[in-house]
Amino acid sequence: MRGKFITLEGIDGAGKSTHHGWLVDALRQRGITLVATREPGGTPLGEKLRGLLLTESMHLETEALLMFAARREHLDKLILPALERGDWVLSDRFSDASFAYQGGGRGLSREKLETMEAWVQGDLRPDLTLLFDVPTEVARARLAAAGNSPDRFEREQQEFFERVRLAYLDRAQREPRRIVRIDATRPVAEIRVELEKVLEMLWR
Ligand code: TYD
Repeated sequence: MRGKFITLEGIDGAGKSTHHGWLVDALRQRGITLVATREPGGTPLGEKLRGLLLTESMHLETEALLMFAARREHLDKLILPALERGDWVLSDRFSDASFAYQGGGRGLSREKLETMEAWVQGDLRPDLTLLFDVPTEVARARLAAAGNSPDRFEREQQEFFERVRLAYLDRAQREPRRIVRIDATRPVAEIRVELEKVLEMLWR
């Protein structure tokens, strides 16, 4: 049987990374063979593209094309072989991030993004997407408290993240069966209780 494909999304500072490790453990404890990965990245070439994407300034369409180029490689080398073996895949970000960041944040048309999505993925979509949602002020404060030096995206203004967040929320409204919005302003323990319940849906 084909494995399940789960993705994690949210604006920078939403706390996605905190939950990533816990989800990996929770799924493995249920006996699932899980491949944990991330975008942009996940393959040797994809990680090189990530390095460029997070540091070099570039045309918006170059940025979108490189995101999808890394994704094409990721699907070919890692995601599709894993799902076909029956393994599950948990990816920290996938195409919803392109619609939210390059689309919502930077203003690239949905039509162009959908063309790239169809080209690169065909009709493959995640089985479940967890959208960690927080207001941008909360995300900003969390990034500041973490104290890491910000990458090219994290240096964007708050208005950019407002648009990214709205694009994510809009997608969650359009695809309520696939995208589950998690109120990530709550304490971590409370969020885990909700994540447990959401994961149960995958066995139904
Ligand atoms: P992120 O996943 O937040 O990693 P870290 O936790 O190490 O900062 O960083 C990746 C950045 O790439 C993030 O700011 C969002 C951006 N991104 C896009 O703009 N489009 C995409 O399609 C993807 C996958 C990521």
